[in-house]
Amino acid sequence: MKQRITSYSTCLLLTVGFLACKTQSPSTTSTDKGVTQSQGVYQYRDEDPTVKPFFSDRVGVIGRNGMVASAHPEASQVGLTILKAGGNAVDAAVAVQFALAVVYPGAGNIGGGGFMVYRDNAGKAYTLDYREKAPGRASQNMYLDSIGNVRPGLSISGHLASGVPGSVDGMVEAHKRFGKLTWAQVLQPAIDLATKGFALTERDALGLNRIKNDLNTINPGKTYFLRSTVPTDTVTWHKGELMVQTDLGKTLQRIQTQGRAGFYEGETARLLAQEMVQGKGLITEEDLKNYHAVWRDPLQAKYKEYNVITMPPTSSGGVALLQMMRFTEPFPLRKWGWNRDSTVQVMIEAERRVYADRAKFLGDPDFVKVPVAQLISPDYLRTRWTDFSWAKATDSRNVKGGNIPGYESLETTHFSVVDKDGNAVSITTTLNGGYGSRVVVGGAGFFMNNEMDDFSVKPGTPNMYGLVGNHANAIAPNKRMLSSMTPTILEKDGKLFMVVGTPGGSTIMTSVYQTILNVVEHGMTMQQAVNALKFHHQWLPDKTIFENGAFSEATTQALQNRGYILEKLTNTLGRMDCVLIRPDGTYEGASDPRADNTARGY
Ligand code: DON
Repeated sequence: MKQRITSYSTCLLLTVGFLACKTQSPSTTSTDKGVTQSQGVYQYRDEDPTVKPFFSDRVGVIGRNGMVASAHPEASQVGLTILKAGGNAVDAAVAVQFALAVVYPGAGNIGGGGFMVYRDNAGKAYTLDYREKAPGRASQNMYLDSIGNVRPGLSISGHLASGVPGSVDGMVEAHKRFGKLTWAQVLQPAIDLATKGFALTERDALGLNRIKNDLNTINPGKTYFLRSTVPTDTVTWHKGELMVQTDLGKTLQRIQTQGRAGFYEGETARLLAQEMVQGKGLITEEDLKNYHAVWRDPLQAKYKEYNVITMPPTSSGGVALLQMMRFTEPFPLRKWGWNRDSTVQVMIEAERRVYADRAKFLGDPDFVKVPVAQLISPDYLRTRWTDFSWAKATDSRNVKGGNIPGYESLETTHFSVVDKDGNAVSITTTLNGGYGSRVVVGGAGFFMNNEMDDFSVKPGTPNMYGLVGNHANAIAPNKRMLSSMTPTILEKDGKLFMVVGTPGGSTIMTSVYQTILNVVEHGMTMQQAVNALKFHHQWLPDKTIFENGAFSEATTQALQNRGYILEKLTNTLGRMDCVLIRPDGTYEGASDPRADNTARGY
């Protein structure tokens, strides 16, 4: 075993290629394997010195009065400006949601939906479901042909793929209930970014260039998001170029002056409905008028000394997160060490069982009864563990959703905000795939979602994230499609502790799970937990995908010997944007180095 790290300077010397230690000389405690913890500064040790458990050596941003972590530097700056102008966390979050709709069109949106978890500084928690709904004319088999086969792509691109957007109503509701600044104030930064333009990052430019063909074929005759209006032109976007979105600016102005009606009625609704008629989509002006976000009771449960506040269904994320955390709570993960074979094995086995339950039980609670309390109860989880063996991986073919007595069978983005008073917002919002259905609403300038693919379009047929589902998540008119989004807030000793979340489709829940454990079990800082390499198992397909470097050679060997199929990714997992409250009360903002994510605090 290697010598333990005991001081700041040795730490720096021994961490070449790892996270640079960044705080004062700490007192050090150590654990049996793999980990040295020193007042929140985690130091990875392994027999194999080439193992690099962190994606990058980025360090967190420290603030005392407010923190915003989001997917785009312009959006985080907007949030910070609103906080500094006296806005609270909800004001900043609303401004960030609209800013992302301008500067991050791949996932930020007004044509999509999302979920908000809010905890006020008195400790009261709220959750808002502004998930899209199936249009009134949707039907269970709308994506199947006459002999019952799935018609490929229809739930993914083009007009039929969209649910009725919820983001604008969600923001109206959140602001009406908790906002301090005026509605006009929180909309203005996004309007400015749309009408005056903003400089594209390299990633922004690459993303738009990548979808050029779809923009042309799905939106014939329109010029939105194209650098050149000539379809065959090879002129593309470059880093630093200014992108102005005049029609989107006008849409945002209508929302600014008319509130909800600026989107769900009048000119915007007319343009959206007209777009749907032209493209043979289903959403009508009636659907828009009928859309309403829903306040739901937060899902809250204890994990050790922490209280986890998270999203109930329509997202499966909160239930899944709590199931995974509680599945592995009895095991000494901290003692075993980060990503050691035993740690990874129990986490994979938890994930396998949780995703099987998700497929069986989870759906829109306004349509199906979801047995949430049973699913997260330790007694139930114990029954799910009985076929676990240390010697060999469980075979997913033998794992089905559990038995609950009395149960009748029947590109996303996350941001976290904390204000000076300790109010905290955790929001995950999405169009589903990158740039959603790729339909841009003519005259209104925004992308529509392709969230219909999150329904189980046919029992047992995987969606674009490989997730399978069943009756509970079948399509029905006005029903919300199941989500994996997991905006979450943790309390410790009754006080705000962590704000966490990420995009990533089916991998959202496992990334949130690992990031939380990285802090609460392995003693990482928030930024280390975000930087740490991740893995994922979702029951089906029966394999564990992992970021290159997440497992040491020893862990890999041990898991493979027990029959685990491991698949190294060429891309990455998660785009976390999180905030941790440190023991001295300061905020550590941690944004994911895997993309343009940025934390700004003061
Ligand atoms: O709600 C869901 O679970 C999905 N629509 C999320 C999609 C997503 O995270 C895409 N981003 N990577």
